[in-house]
Amino acid sequence: MSEETRVPDLAGGIPSTDLPEGTMIAGTVGDEEVLIARVGGRLFAVAALCTHYHGPLVDGLLVGETVRCPWHHAHFCLRTGEALAAPATDPLKRWAISEAGGVIASAKRSTRRLPRRAARRQASRAGWW
Ligand code: FES
Repeated sequence: MSEETRVPDLAGGIPSTDLPEGTMIAGTVGDEEVLIARVGGRLFAVAALCTHYHGPLVDGLLVGETVRCPWHHAHFCLRTGEALAAPATDPLKRWAISEAGGVIASAKRSTRRLPRRAARRQASRAGWW
């Protein structure tokens, strides 16, 4: 694997300087692909692939504390993982993330119950089901 295509091991940590304000990076935690973002001075870690058709969220847009999928434009809350706008209706998994000593690391997946409300309401109003 070349240096350009290496995916960061987020459990092992990356330098804080690799994630400036308003940016996101995709990496791995164990066997799972995770997206980390820094927005408004806060760090977030969520699943890296959209829950609709697995679009690569790292290629999408950061808008406030949301990420927008590049494929069909679903919106997800980075704080809760909630799908805020269809076509995705299922939430993103979330991970704990920390920064200390110039290193950002994410290792433990959150087991808190994930919300599914907003996008389901929107899809229902649109007559998708
Ligand atoms: S793959 Fe993300 S909205 Fe379709």
